[in-house]
Amino acid sequence: MEVIGIHSGFQGLLDNDMEAFDAEHLSGLLGMGGTVLGTSRVKLFPRRGSDNHTEKAMRAIQTMEQQRLDCLVCIGGSGTQATAARIAEMGVNVVTIPQTIDNDVWGTDSSIGFDSAVEVATEAIDRLHSTATSHKRVMVIEVMGHEAGWLALNSGMAGGGDIILLPELSYKMRNLGNVIIDRLKHGKPYSIVVVAEGIQIDGGNRKRAAEYIAQEIEYETGFETRETVLGYLQRGGTPTSFDRNLATLMGGHATDLIVARQFGRMVALHGERITSVPLADVAGRLKLVTPEEDLIVQGKKMGVCFG
Ligand code: F6P
Repeated sequence: MEVIGIHSGFQGLLDNDMEAFDAEHLSGLLGMGGTVLGTSRVKLFPRRGSDNHTEKAMRAIQTMEQQRLDCLVCIGGSGTQATAARIAEMGVNVVTIPQTIDNDVWGTDSSIGFDSAVEVATEAIDRLHSTATSHKRVMVIEVMGHEAGWLALNSGMAGGGDIILLPELSYKMRNLGNVIIDRLKHGKPYSIVVVAEGIQIDGGNRKRAAEYIAQEIEYETGFETRETVLGYLQRGGTPTSFDRNLATLMGGHATDLIVARQFGRMVALHGERITSVPLADVAGRLKLVTPEEDLIVQGKKMGVCFG
């Protein structure tokens, strides 16, 4: 196969910005975060429900035809999957790979990048324990996840969070205050609160989730409370060995699909097996946390508060 790398995601298709990828280009990438191709948030289509054949999408497809590309491989999160599905509907051969720290792509147990982000967030929570215990404070940490709380749930549990708040689950400030005061009564005058950036907060989006929760906890309990927003630190750095091998296996499976001419599919991880699912099933859906999730059920048994 001849592999062409398209720069800046779908923007590169609009600008005809691409280069042939040979072994030289691939050397040394295994331990790197981010993407040497670059990426963008450009939208080829307006929202669902409106006309499929937009001018931008047509231009992208024209570039593919000019360059005589046989298949487009799209690597990204739920937005990328939705765009790829619509390109596929227009008759283009497409294969996709799930890659997002949010882990909210439907149809796969994990997406490339999620495990690495969980590691970074867990280490950050570990580090917050020092000040929480020494200064006897409530430490609130905000991790990414607008709609899905997978990152908050997994890092919160791994980091020993006492309260974990997710966009999918509602919470009562009174409950949070009670947990913190109860811990004090049991000789623990400190608490770690892990919040996803997308939790519901009063007063709309004017405040960050961590700032809002920290202020409210201080008001509710009188405890000295501090907040930390982890931000883009979660999206960079060295990938974990799990993510490296997941990327290798998913990339390999994508080439197998292309050889077998099985287009319109997304590579997926089911348990420990790499497989694929129809792209049409993935598009427009999100994999969200439910209260039945094992980590939530076990966490509750251990006294972790989820709201
Ligand atoms: O979609 C992944 C994600 O990391 C979200 O968790 C986060 O809210 C968003 O991207 C941030 O996007 P941007 O880079 O456009 O600020």
